Amino acid sequence: MLSLKGKDILHGNQFSKREIEEIMKAAAYLEKEMKRKDSLNLLKGKILATLFFEPSTRTRLSFETAMQRLGGGVISMASPESSSAAKGETVADTARTVSQYADVIVIRHPRIGSAKEAADAAPIPVINAGDGAGQHPTQALLDIFTIRRELGSLKNLAVSMVGDLKNGRTVHALVELLSLFQARLYFVSPLELRMPEAITFSLKQKGIEIEETEDLPKAASKSDLIYMTRIQKERFEDLSGYERVKGHYVIDENFIAGLKNKIIIMHPLPRVDEISQKVDDYPGAAYFRQVRNGVYVRMALLAMLLGKRV
Ligand code: NCD
Repeated sequence: MLSLKGKDILHGNQFSKREIEEIMKAAAYLEKEMKRKDSLNLLKGKILATLFFEPSTRTRLSFETAMQRLGGGVISMASPESSSAAKGETVADTARTVSQYADVIVIRHPRIGSAKEAADAAPIPVINAGDGAGQHPTQALLDIFTIRRELGSLKNLAVSMVGDLKNGRTVHALVELLSLFQARLYFVSPLELRMPEAITFSLKQKGIEIEETEDLPKAASKSDLIYMTRIQKERFEDLSGYERVKGHYVIDENFIAGLKNKIIIMHPLPRVDEISQKVDDYPGAAYFRQVRNGVYVRMALLAMLLGKRV
């Protein structure tokens, strides 16, 4: 049994295949337990602090749900405006302070590298819930859990990642995990929003097959899975840049009707206009199942970081 006890979760590239397997196993076990009980006592008396300096619905609520289902407690910064960050406190000082109250920290912040700064300052485990356009490793873990659940295996996967590959931290983290399973990757985006060069370079060095294209239907016809993403409006310097690319790719009922192969559709959510609500009843639309899986995966992580055997 590998131990994640006391570790920080900062980047998709930090995991070994074995660690991923262990997390998946623990998540599946906790899912089963939750079918029998409303909550567990595994983390009774432990406290999770959520520090969100950027908007969030799912990630924060899913971590808070996970902690409470494990019997632990949650403290939460109401909003950055009402915290000492507004007075100019550094992320490091905030993290160090919160370590005096809590046993584990989940942080989301608009700046790349901020979670690492928090982790370096805090003596307790720190989980990166999104650092700007950087990484979002727990989303990637729940995505992997979902892919395996939906497709039955992680072998011989072909995945189309679609949308804002430049700024999307979920795809930046997910490709790291998929590369451990030798997935074939289609990067489908407008030219302005291509996957950062540093990421494609490192994937190619690992021998991963990548094709960059603007042609979604063609990439989809060769894929088991479409991973759709939102154009990250908040990362654009000016609105006209956003206006130029918004609505570039839309999955709607016509797109689904034109599919020749069976395909799963995932999205980290929130969606704006890139997946029509008419697609929600398509059996392969997995994005709300993805949300539910997130709770089990985060339960597994919290328990493991705090040294519990699951
Ligand atoms: C994503 C994020 O915050 O990076 N949301 C999430 O955590 N599920 C995706 C997004 O905001 O587009």
